[in-house]
Amino acid sequence: MNLTGKIAIVTGASSGIGAEFSRALTGKGATVYGLARRESKLEAIRKELGDLFRPVVADITDPGSIQDWITSTFTDGLLPDILINNAGTGYFNKVEDLPLDEWHTMINTNLSGVFYITKYIVPLMKKNPAVCHIINISSIAGLIGNPSISGYNATKFGVRGFSEALMKELRYDGIKVSCMFPGSIATEFFDNTGTDIHPNMMMGRDVATVLTNLLELPDNFLIDEVTMRPLNPKPPDKPL
Ligand SMILES: NC(=O)c1ccc[n+]([C@@H]2O[C@H](COP(=O)([O-])OP(=O)(O)OC[C@H]3O[C@@H](n4cnc5c(N)ncnc54)[C@H](OP(=O)(O)O)[C@@H]3O)[C@@H](O)[C@H]2O)c1
Repeated sequence: MNLTGKIAIVTGASSGIGAEFSRALTGKGATVYGLARRESKLEAIRKELGDLFRPVVADITDPGSIQDWITSTFTDGLLPDILINNAGTGYFNKVEDLPLDEWHTMINTNLSGVFYITKYIVPLMKKNPAVCHIINISSIAGLIGNPSISGYNATKFGVRGFSEALMKELRYDGIKVSCMFPGSIATEFFDNTGTDIHPNMMMGRDVATVLTNLLELPDNFLIDEVTMRPLNPKPPDKPL
């Protein structure tokens, strides 16, 4: 796909890798509808990136408002080419200590939110004569379970299953589905988790380079899963 002139939707565009995806995509000439709840952060990104970045204040856990935004934005003359399901959140705790509201927030955001927007965007992509691409952001935690992250693991394993099934369901409609499984990236994600970020975590801009590389492959060439990790994941001041 040549990204110039393409129409992309990026959820979780207000910070972290969603903001980096928006930078990379607009840098290649795509228009990005960037969804998130924090208006001031989205507005700052619009100021930085210009009119190719369209801020959309939206909560992906609210299916009615997501459907309303999609029906009021897209028409047969303006169809989405790219959907990046990136918005997500993590709370880490032992199973007996994980509060119910944190479990529900993870399920509603990481899993139901991905389902809602995908459900309403796929019919538009089926109308699009060009090859389209959905990229879902899971995590290494979507491949490997670990103590104290069982709730987050459950959502990210779910994203993997959803992605694999969709890849098989949509391939003959000219819609690619890929799933990315990143290890630790230095972002605000860790604010909720009690983990400090450090310089050996991956940088969002490098993850964004992988994303645009996936999108730019030839139409009949699909990479469905990508795992990425820091070479040395330990903080620089910790002994190996
Ligand atoms: N950082 C890592 O190490 C890492 C590793 C693997 C996978 N991931 C995944 O990468 C994705 C992005 O995370 P990040 O690291 O970039 O963290 P981040 O900086 O905390 O970004 C999360 C984004 O999701 C948005 N968001 C959260 N809930 C939302 C909702 N209900 N509706 C709309 N937007 C919502 C946030 O925006 P608002 O708060 O403005 O709504 C923010 O833009 C997540 O799915 C995360 O699970 C992260």
